Amino acid sequence: MKGIILAGGRGTRLHPITLAVSKQLLPVNDKPLIYYPLSALMLAGIRDILIISTPVDLPQIQRLLGDGAQLGLSLRYARQQEPRGLADAFIVGADHVGDDPVALVLGDNVFHGHRFDDILQEQARDIDGCVLFGYPVTDPERYGVGETDAAGKLISIEEKPARPRSNRAIVGLYLYDNEVLDIAKNLSPSARGELEITDVNRDYLERGKARLVDLGRGCAWLDAGTPASLLQAAQYVSALESRQGVRIACIEEVALRMGFIRAEECRELGERLAPSDYGRYVCAVAEEFAAHSTVPHP
Ligand code: TTP
Repeated sequence: MKGIILAGGRGTRLHPITLAVSKQLLPVNDKPLIYYPLSALMLAGIRDILIISTPVDLPQIQRLLGDGAQLGLSLRYARQQEPRGLADAFIVGADHVGDDPVALVLGDNVFHGHRFDDILQEQARDIDGCVLFGYPVTDPERYGVGETDAAGKLISIEEKPARPRSNRAIVGLYLYDNEVLDIAKNLSPSARGELEITDVNRDYLERGKARLVDLGRGCAWLDAGTPASLLQAAQYVSALESRQGVRIACIEEVALRMGFIRAEECRELGERLAPSDYGRYVCAVAEEFAAHSTVPHP
């Protein structure tokens, strides 16, 4: 399965912060925002990833992450000239996806939780149709919302409904079979001139090929698109990291635990980041891993 991180957009809800800086490079506690969606794809076992952003922001993101070889990944980059909507990812990224299934993650979404990697890996296996993930929120009118019947079958998807039929927001991580490329190619822009991901998902739903999987209470999902939610994400990460002594979305650690890199390579990455606490953490994780090889999962 290929991966795409959609990391462009206008970031207008964060103005003036994002007037000169990409939203996805803003800090969420101790690391750039884009580390979180990147680590979600890595936890799904995906190593071949396209990062899409604006022509202005792309070089900075590339400066941060490079070709990904240091993490055992293959990272490629593509420009989106204008923010034409989330489903435009499958037009800009068509060559990258090729004949494979694909996971799309939004560059400003933060995921964390118990068994999150297991859930993703299980759902990504032998995908036929699309898999959406639902998460209960108090303000569903801000999101795409999925409604299920008593048996848990997805029966409707609405985009930012004034009167939501459920409190299940559809999170910014979507798994698709290869048909998504054709569906996106044939989409018409919505009233706001964008290629809507909800229209893609509805196409699958109408053919009985869309599933909604609840992320459940053990998982946290935050989007960092407004000043309040960016701060909330940082507070969440900070509280957990300082309490537990583990780091969330530490991409070097994820690469090590997923078997993408060896402990020695991980330690070298940590040394390059010293003297930050983050760098020291990466070194410590690598050393502990080398000593035991069975340290508990973060
Ligand atoms: P949004 O938060 O929906 O849009 P935005 O980032 O432009 O912000 P705002 O609404 O405040 O103006 O986008 C979700 C993610 O998708 C985010 O990481 C930006 C990215 N994105 C693109 O890369 N291209 C696009 O065409 C759109 C709409 C979003």
